[in-house]
Amino acid sequence: MTSSTAQDLRPRPEDLEPVERASVDELRALQLDRLRWSLRHAYDNVPHYRATFDRAGVHPDDLRDLADLARFPLTSKADLRDSYPYGMFAVPRERIARLHASSGTTGRPTVVGYTREDVRTWARLMARSIRASGGRPGDRVHVAYGYGLFTGGLGAHYGAEELGCTVIPVSGGMTERQVLLIRDLEPDVIMVTPSYMLAIVDEMQRQGIDPRSTSLRVGIFGAEPWTERMRQEIEQRLDIHAVDIYGLSEVIGPGVANECVETKDGLHVWEDHFYPEIIDPLTGEVLPDGEPGELVFTTLTKQAMPVVRYRTRDLTRLLPGTARPMRRMEKITGRTDDMIILRGVNLFPTQIEELILGTPELSAHFQCVLRREGRLDALTVRVERRAEAGPASAAAAGAALAEQVKNTIGVSVTVEVIEPDGVERSMGKMRRIVDNRPRE
Ligand code: DLL
Repeated sequence: MTSSTAQDLRPRPEDLEPVERASVDELRALQLDRLRWSLRHAYDNVPHYRATFDRAGVHPDDLRDLADLARFPLTSKADLRDSYPYGMFAVPRERIARLHASSGTTGRPTVVGYTREDVRTWARLMARSIRASGGRPGDRVHVAYGYGLFTGGLGAHYGAEELGCTVIPVSGGMTERQVLLIRDLEPDVIMVTPSYMLAIVDEMQRQGIDPRSTSLRVGIFGAEPWTERMRQEIEQRLDIHAVDIYGLSEVIGPGVANECVETKDGLHVWEDHFYPEIIDPLTGEVLPDGEPGELVFTTLTKQAMPVVRYRTRDLTRLLPGTARPMRRMEKITGRTDDMIILRGVNLFPTQIEELILGTPELSAHFQCVLRREGRLDALTVRVERRAEAGPASAAAAGAALAEQVKNTIGVSVTVEVIEPDGVERSMGKMRRIVDNRPRE
């Protein structure tokens, strides 16, 4: 249970790193210096970058100011896949201290590498992220992100240790035991995907434990999109502060950006290590801050596997810094590949999540099932009723939800209200979209 307000949890100014208190001008100067190094490092050591820079007629020396980055070629997931497994590495193999791999739902995973120094940088950034979320040295941190090739578990683990916390490396799965460990070991902080957090809360209730009575104060949630409504749901059910953490394996793992507990107004990009841009996903053109589009990152300090203008496929916009000088990214709306196009209307599962969580009879466990009806795509939202709601009132709420989707998003969907526990639980990233359309 937390009686702590967000202001209590906010780090003291003297606990911040100097760069977290730098001016925007100081930050931009540091970025320019580091960006020059990183472009040169990529060009000199990775044949892919040498070839694409040469083809685009640009050279690392052409970077005079940060805006010049727009002249350099973009890098896509396909580029990383084509050089599987080690082709993007910029240091000799003996200097690689760690490998991870991205989940890769289809085919080959994307392999990423770290030098010893990269692992240290990552640990420091994760420590910074946990501190920004309200974690402190001495806190007990329950890590329920998966350990292994996925970056979530080990990333959180090293960061919590770096901050001086006691790490409880539980990993994902065995939900009953998660509850037992939370009850008995009394962690202050939990790090887990928001969807799996909900599964753990449901299990607490099944066991007759009041989720608001645990020792938890802070939850650090990421690895999948989640909405403001989901934040409210989690904060209310657990009586904790729920903070958003973002990252991706290709860039480093979790700890690329993190919210500050005192503001919870979007994620500060740790810009001293990662340079963000927003592009128009169709034309590749750089958009000004404030405009929504696809997030692109260039690493500024990564040794083993620098990335230059890597297209994340995540959709958001950049906003000025508030609690820190670094720019913020708004909560991710979705990925370009998760966009459902239904009779010409674009739709993301997060929009459905917002509406479902605004409906008291329906629970946060839902999936978007796509199918083909004649020549058209059709969408069924399968959503569980809340255990407290009776089947009849939940069915009425489902009909009202379909109406709301039509009125706010502008497209007709079928809503199927199912019994509690009817949607498969994930132990990590939740699969929101089930695509049952015939393969072309
Ligand atoms: O999910 C790293 C991570 C672990 C982040 C734990 C946060 C916490 P990947 O498996 O490479 O790495 O997947 C990266 O997950 O491009 C986004 O689409 C999505 N994602 C990650 N964090 C968030 C977030 C890890 N806070 C992909 N909000 C990214 C929305 C997120 N989507």
